[in-house]
Amino acid sequence: MDHVALAVRDLQAAVRVFEALGFRCAHVEEVPSEGARVAFLSAGEVALELVEPTSEHSVVGRFLAARGEGVHHVALRVPDLRQSLERAAAAGLAVVPPAPRSGARGSQVAFLHPRTTHGVLIELVQTDTL
Ligand code: CO
Repeated sequence: MDHVALAVRDLQAAVRVFEALGFRCAHVEEVPSEGARVAFLSAGEVALELVEPTSEHSVVGRFLAARGEGVHHVALRVPDLRQSLERAAAAGLAVVPPAPRSGARGSQVAFLHPRTTHGVLIELVQTDTL
């Protein structure tokens, strides 16, 4: 497990809430490919990503409009993203987008659509790509 991500309307306010719960904010970054600004927080081994849309037309912007704030995705760290995507596709899982793209912190990421993963958007992340 790499992190759990929450969709939030106000990144600064959300960071303050989780800092009050003992998390430390390690990193804030704008991710243009996602139309989002993200903060990574940690408490011991637990990592949290807070995602605020920079555009209402982004994936997270539409998520907030439709469902409100809450858990957005669960991210799993994989050693070889392309191999994981091949395996996922062979198992009939819907990979979106079909090819990896650049995520936060210099990572490569891809997502598995919740319709094939029991209602949970899964992010596959390979972090050692630099
Ligand atoms: Co994420």
